[in-house]
Amino acid sequence: MARQPADHAAAGLPSYRPVAVRFERLEVEQQRARLLEFQRRMTTRRSVRHYSREAVPDDLIDAAIAVAASAPSGANMKPWRFVVVRDQAVRQQIRKAAEDEEWAFYDRRAPDDWLSALAPLGTDWRKPFLEDAPCLIVVFKIEYGLEIAADGTERHIKHYYATESVGIACGFLIAALHMAGLATLTHTPSPMGFLTSILQRPKNENPFLLIPVGVPAADAVVPVIARKSLDEVRIVV
Ligand SMILES: Cc1cc2nc3c(=O)[nH]c(=O)nc-3n(C[C@H](O)[C@H](O)[C@H](O)COP(=O)(O)O)c2cc1C
Repeated sequence: MARQPADHAAAGLPSYRPVAVRFERLEVEQQRARLLEFQRRMTTRRSVRHYSREAVPDDLIDAAIAVAASAPSGANMKPWRFVVVRDQAVRQQIRKAAEDEEWAFYDRRAPDDWLSALAPLGTDWRKPFLEDAPCLIVVFKIEYGLEIAADGTERHIKHYYATESVGIACGFLIAALHMAGLATLTHTPSPMGFLTSILQRPKNENPFLLIPVGVPAADAVVPVIARKSLDEVRIVV
């Protein structure tokens, strides 16, 4: 039988403290109106690869990160770190490192089928958006908790479902930024190890996504893409 909360203390486990759930109960019509409005806004989101240099206020970035940090996570381990890069010199460094990797990727490493999948998106090794966008959010996945005692002894704390958790948090982040009228790109230079050294992150954090945030350039374009219809993605059993 499952262990009951009352047994926690006896078993030496942390205590369980329930509180009443705060839940906004809506009428079906309100639910529908809210969701359709959210759907209407979210389905206009596009990945933007051309940015103006127009500034984005810090408080908007902070609020979006706070939304991301409210995401569910495996065993509530919150395995995420969001590094906000504003500094022009650091963004320049990130662009240089990303373009070096992407040059090697497009020129040598990428298999033909990957290049063929990317072709309709019009991407190549050049990443000017890493300098043009006024802000980069670099999301790190915290692979395991790391506590270092005064004598240097390390204690590792297991993180459960870290990839799923940080992926959900990134979804929240991108949605929040979009709802604030900001454009983003979900960028994954391959490989991204250079972000760990440039941003001086500890060994238990791995780069997960690099997200430029800003306003599209006046002449920004996006590729024509298709999305799957509801009937293609939804199965009702
Ligand atoms: C995990 C992931 C990685 C991606 N990596 C890149 C990338 O490195 N460079 C890029 O230009 N776009 C990247 N994209 C963006 C996709 O190409 C884009 O989402 C897709 O073409 C659909 O277009 P949309 O976002 O405008 O709907 C990535 C998207 C995801 C979800």
